[in-house]
Amino acid sequence: MLKGEKVGLRARYEEDIPILRTELYDDVEGGSRAESRPWRPISPSSKDRRLHVDDSVAEHVPFSIVELAGDTLIGTANLWGIDTHNRTAHIGLGLLPSARGKGYGSDVVAVLCHYGFVVRGLQRLQIETLADNYAMLRAAERNGFVREGVLRKSAWVMGEFLDEVLLGLLAHEWKAMS
Ligand SMILES: CC(C)(COP(=O)(O)OP(=O)(O)OC[C@H]1O[C@@H](n2cnc3c(N)ncnc32)[C@H](O)[C@@H]1OP(=O)(O)O)[C@@H](O)C(=O)NCCC(=O)NCCS
Repeated sequence: MLKGEKVGLRARYEEDIPILRTELYDDVEGGSRAESRPWRPISPSSKDRRLHVDDSVAEHVPFSIVELAGDTLIGTANLWGIDTHNRTAHIGLGLLPSARGKGYGSDVVAVLCHYGFVVRGLQRLQIETLADNYAMLRAAERNGFVREGVLRKSAWVMGEFLDEVLLGLLAHEWKAMS
């Protein structure tokens, strides 16, 4: 398990799946904001890639997030789009509603940076988020991510086009902060 100050990132367990489906992916508004494709329900029998891990997909590493204090599941995190030629990847995370606003998000970003830069030897990590996702922007910037651009009206979310912000962090910038 990868450990931060408050959170651990571990493999996906079978018992995580119904909790993540119900609390995270059944939320139409949250799902529409978090993903760049239309929300649709996930049936319990489906082997949806967001829930069920396929270890043969090398460019995508999904984690379940647990609170270290009680070993309770609090969300999901990913290193995705891993490009071993350019040594880049994207990070993503989603906390269960009850776990938001407690500082876990910033800690998860820190652990994903450690995994990307130290364990995987990457040189660049990237985050794309909606321009009004202040908690995500702040969690990224606290960890040294820099706003590199705005993708104007690039996301269709619940009836309107919203801007997305692209943030990047380079390995040497992260090491200088550590
Ligand atoms: C986005 C998310 C991961 C952030 O994690 P979190 O644990 O809720 O955030 P934190 O408690 O670590 O807060 C991060 C910072 O944002 C600030 N913040 C939180 N909500 C805010 C708001 N509405 N406006 C402004 N700042 C806010 C916090 O004060 C904190 O700043 P600080 O470190 O200076 O105190 C989490 O809220 C979440 O999972 N949301 C739903 C899914 C999602 O949006 N995922 C990201 C998709 S790219």
